[in-house]
Amino acid sequence: MHCAGNWTGIDIAFSLFNGTGLVKPDANPNEDINLAEDTPLDISPESFGTIGKVLKSLKGFNLDCYKDKCIKRRIGIRVRATHCKTAEDYCELLLGSEVELELLYKVLTIHVSQFFRNPLTFRKVKEEIIPQLIQQCKNREQRELRLWSVGCASGEEPYSLAIILKEHFQEDLQDLNVSILATDVDADTLQAARAGVYGEDRMAEVPDPVKTRYFTQVGSKYHLLPEIKEMVTFRQSDLFDTSSYPVSDLILCRNVLIYFERSQQQKIMQALPPCWNKGDFSCSVSRRPFSASRELFNTVCPIERIYRAV
Ligand SMILES: C[S@@+](CC[C@H](N)C(=O)[O-])C[C@H]1O[C@@H](n2cnc3c(N)ncnc32)[C@H](O)[C@@H]1O
Repeated sequence: MHCAGNWTGIDIAFSLFNGTGLVKPDANPNEDINLAEDTPLDISPESFGTIGKVLKSLKGFNLDCYKDKCIKRRIGIRVRATHCKTAEDYCELLLGSEVELELLYKVLTIHVSQFFRNPLTFRKVKEEIIPQLIQQCKNREQRELRLWSVGCASGEEPYSLAIILKEHFQEDLQDLNVSILATDVDADTLQAARAGVYGEDRMAEVPDPVKTRYFTQVGSKYHLLPEIKEMVTFRQSDLFDTSSYPVSDLILCRNVLIYFERSQQQKIMQALPPCWNKGDFSCSVSRRPFSASRELFNTVCPIERIYRAV
């Protein structure tokens, strides 16, 4: 199958950690922060353990599941932003400040997203995957089409799917019950997703006619119309809780696994296929399946990293 493009989901995800630039104390923790000159923080096991305990007990966030190097870089951002001299000073600050705990959590969960992020993936989904899914529903007399956006951040990804369905498939979907579920571990980002209000930075890939049809511009912000918002259901859910995975025909799991330890990625990838019907259903993940999970996936498009349950 032909697949155009010269980037990969993985490059995009890694680009969060490339480049230059210092973080200002008042920096928005959700911004895409460039970190090349920020080497991982020199942090003692004791301080790392303390930070881990605080995050686990107060936010339910398990540091052990994420890549050490990423996490230390991210903690380093907050250490510098708060002008702490050492990681130990930062621990002390963290223990006494709920606000700092929230800011650290935001930096660690990284909510950078965009409408139609990696447009070639969305093109592929629009031109090949959704038509196949609709045809399969017809063949199987299946009445439901269930789409799941995992780690949906502020909703740009599931709303992009909703816009595609509205723009191109309204007639084909008339007889189907379509659901778009969007999950994320972070309650605040889900609240922003439900509000559906976006700055210009999130809109770079939105074609002008789509902007005009589905958004109302108010000052510098774009407000998504209710007709698109109501197509998506948001739910707080932790990807490490594999028992909570919904049955889905298409799973978008992009720029999320990249932050997790390899063993956790493996666990999640092995848990994903059982939520598909066996056979021809598709999935887009930004990690190439490896070792034991490889046999569970057939590759549909290696460049866009689209796979199918075997
Ligand atoms: C970089 S954003 C990706 C957004 C979107 N998928 C995209 O590609 O544009 C990563 C999202 O994963 C979420 N996340 C991190 N750990 C998670 C977990 N354990 N379970 C569910 N979501 C998680 C973060 O809160 C964040 O919103």
